[in-house]
Amino acid sequence: MTLPFPSIGKSKDEILAAMRAARDHDVQWQKGRAFSLVYHAGKDVDDLLKEASLLFFSENGLNPAAFPSLRKFESEITAMAASLLGGDDNTAGTVTSGGTESLLMAVKTARDWARKNRPEIKQPEMILPITGHPAFEKAAEYFGVKALHIPVRADYRADVDSARQAVTANTILMIGSAPAYPHGVVDPIRELAAIAQEHGILFHTDACVGGFMLPFVRKLGYSVPDFDLSVPGVTSISADLHKYAYAAKGASVILYKTAELRRHQMFVYTDWPGGIYPSPAMGGTRSGAPIAAAWAVLNYLGESGYLEMTDQVMKAARRLQAGVNATPGLKVISNPEMSVFAIGSDVLDVYSLADELTKRNWHLDRQQFPPTLHMTVQFGHINVVDEFLSDLTDASNAVLKPSFEKTANAWLIKLANFLVRILPEAWVTRLMDKASSLLGGGGSLPAKMAPMYGLIGSLPNRGDLKEMMLDLLDGMTRYKQ
Ligand SMILES: Cc1ncc(COP(=O)(O)O)c(C=O)c1O
Repeated sequence: MTLPFPSIGKSKDEILAAMRAARDHDVQWQKGRAFSLVYHAGKDVDDLLKEASLLFFSENGLNPAAFPSLRKFESEITAMAASLLGGDDNTAGTVTSGGTESLLMAVKTARDWARKNRPEIKQPEMILPITGHPAFEKAAEYFGVKALHIPVRADYRADVDSARQAVTANTILMIGSAPAYPHGVVDPIRELAAIAQEHGILFHTDACVGGFMLPFVRKLGYSVPDFDLSVPGVTSISADLHKYAYAAKGASVILYKTAELRRHQMFVYTDWPGGIYPSPAMGGTRSGAPIAAAWAVLNYLGESGYLEMTDQVMKAARRLQAGVNATPGLKVISNPEMSVFAIGSDVLDVYSLADELTKRNWHLDRQQFPPTLHMTVQFGHINVVDEFLSDLTDASNAVLKPSFEKTANAWLIKLANFLVRILPEAWVTRLMDKASSLLGGGGSLPAKMAPMYGLIGSLPNRGDLKEMMLDLLDGMTRYKQ
C-alpha cells in the first residue's frame, strides 16, 4: 500500500488540527484512565519537560565533543542515579532510549564480557524468572544468548532454588526484577546475586520500574528489600527515567559496577572512511530532547519533590489495593512492595472485567498465567481512586450478572427438554422466549473482547499465537485507507 507523497505543504493550523483529531480515540491518560504506558506528574512538570525538550530538540547526543551540554547532562544524570542506587566512585553508566535499550545493553555487555573473560563458553546462557521483562527475550534473540527461565514461588517472586539449579558451565548472566512488571513484586535480589557471585557470573537488577521509586518508598518508611548496586554480586542495574522519574519518553539509565564492565557495552569502528565511529549504546543519532528533559526534571523535583509525590502515590496505591480486596470476588495478587500490582480472581473472569472497565473508559492490560489485570499507579492517579473503585464495583457486578444468566439459561434448556415431551413444541418455544427475556437476556459485552482473550489463553499451540500476533503487528503497521 502506498500513500501519495503530499504534493504541496499544508498550513500549520491544518496539520495541528488533524493531529489533535487523531488523538481523539487515544486512551485518556490525562484523566488518569490508563494504568500502564504513561507517567504523569502534572502541569508544572509537563511545562518544564516541554520547554527543556524544545531547547534541545535539534541537538544530537551522538557526538559529545560537539555537544558538551548533553555530555554534562548525561554524566550528571548517571551520577545522580548512581548515588540513588547504591553506586560509588567506580560506577559508570549510560542514558539510553528506554528500559528495553537498557536491558539489551545489559545482555550485550554480559555476552562481550564473557567472550573476553570466559572464552571457553561458546553458547552463552542467562537465567531469568518467567516474570522478567520480554526485552530480555529480545536481547536473547538479538545477541545469541540462550534464555533459561526459572519459575516464581507462590508469592510470585523468583524461586531461588531453581535459579541455583539452573546454573551451568555456560551461564554468563543472572537476572532479577525490582519489581517485575506483571505483579509488582521484587525478586529476592540478595539471594540471587549471591548465587551469581559464587559462580563468578554477572547479575543484572532490572529496576526499570522501581529504580526511581523504591529508594523513596524505603525513605518513607515502607519495607523494601535490598536490590541495588550495593548488594554483593549485583554488577549492573537499569532504571527508567521515563517511568517513576516522570521524565519525557525516551530516557532510561543503565549503570555498571565498574567502568571496565561498561566498556563491553560500547561499540567502536575505526576503519570507516567517514572517520572513527564510537557509540555507547544501540542508537546512532540520539535526540538531545529526552536527555535534557530528564536532567531538568531530576533537578526540578529533587529528593524532596520525589518523596512528596511518592508518598501520595503510595497512599493512592494502598487505597486502591484495599478497595480491590474489598470488592467481592477480586483480590490483589501477592503483597507488592510499591505501587504496581495485579488484580486477580478465583470466581470471575477478569478479562470480562477488563472489558467492562473499558466500557467505562479505563485502560488495564490483560495479563496471563494466571489471568490478571495490571495496575501501575502513578502520580496521575492520585485523584481518581474513588471513581475507579466505584466503577470497579459496577464492572464486577456486571460480569457476575451474565454468569447468573448462563446458569439460568442452562436450567431453562433442561426445563425445555422436559416440557417438549408433554406439551406442543410451539407452546414450549413461546414459554422459553418469555422466560429468557424475563431473565434479562442482554448482558452482552461491548467489544466481545473476553472470548478472544479466553481463546488466546486456551490455544493448545502457542506457536499459532505467535503467528497470529505477527499478523496483527504486520496489519497494524501498514498504511490503510
Ligand atoms: C520491569 C521492566 N523492565 C523493562 C521495561 C521496558 O521498558 P521500556 O518500555 O521503556 O522499553 C519495562 C516496561 O514496562 C518494565 O516494566
